[in-house]
Amino acid sequence: MSTKHFALLGTAAIGLSLIVAGCSSKNADATISPAAGVIESTAPSGQLDNSSATLSSPVTSTSVATATPAIESVLPGSTEPTPITTTQLSEQPTTKSTLKPTAKPTTKPTAKPPTAPSGEAITVIAKPADMQVLVNKKRVLPSNYVPTDLVEPKVRFPYEEKLEKRKMRKEAATALERMFKGAEKDGIILYAVSGYRSYQTQKALYNNYVNKDGEQAASRYSAKPGMSEHQTGLAMDVSSKSANYQLTQSFGTTAEGKWLSKHSWEYGFIIRYLQTTEDITGYMYEPWHVRFIGAAIAREVFEQGVTLEEYYGVAVPVAG
Ligand code: DAL
Ligand code: ZN
Repeated sequence: MSTKHFALLGTAAIGLSLIVAGCSSKNADATISPAAGVIESTAPSGQLDNSSATLSSPVTSTSVATATPAIESVLPGSTEPTPITTTQLSEQPTTKSTLKPTAKPTTKPTAKPPTAPSGEAITVIAKPADMQVLVNKKRVLPSNYVPTDLVEPKVRFPYEEKLEKRKMRKEAATALERMFKGAEKDGIILYAVSGYRSYQTQKALYNNYVNKDGEQAASRYSAKPGMSEHQTGLAMDVSSKSANYQLTQSFGTTAEGKWLSKHSWEYGFIIRYLQTTEDITGYMYEPWHVRFIGAAIAREVFEQGVTLEEYYGVAVPVAG
């Protein structure tokens, strides 16, 4: 699996025009029948967000979307076109820095790692509001999960519009503000491009990419609805003037991208999709996508030079 799919990085002629937009658990189990699109839950109706569910086959954009009205088009201001080329893919420096962090973590991890997915099953996350939540192609957020503490961080954005994608969860927003100030002290000016996205927005975006590039290609750079960290409110896509405010892999070669790669852990963030980890995370290199996970885990992930999947001890097959 891994080598086969990883080989795609070097060999595929990626004609992609990448557009990136940018609880508590009741411990009730539920199963989802993707074919019928029916949620058969042992939890009371409407409580899927507090339950744990396993899907019997790989999720599709429709299988977990049954409770969500369809969106016909991409919402205004939710996309930023960014071309990706094979050159860009091969030119990036590794984000696995050998630099040793000097700051002490302020907290110890408190949450247990999420339960590892078994086989090809897809798990609906029981506690989507956990700050340490692992979201990927095998662990999906409930379609009706919306963080309750979304705020707009006081940082630079490359646009004036008051869009929902400016927002992050409170703790992440505060950390982002600290990080941007820290960068500024080093002469680095960062811009926040795209943070929170609802399930519905992610669905619209993903469908748009599939229409443009096909499902296989789209799934390498865009998450299906429910599978995006942006729905947690803990992720922010970051860019710079030097990268034309775009979410492009060449951002990784800019002074701003290098600063982010080297220092984001100090503020509780990780670069979620590294240059050579598509076979593990399921997504291509995204030097712009930072995920807030808290100081202690961010430091450990950085020091170990691993993905969140590896840190938690789970692997995510690319397929699906
Ligand atoms: N681009 C990342 C994988 C997302 O869509 O969440
Ligand atoms: Zn992102």
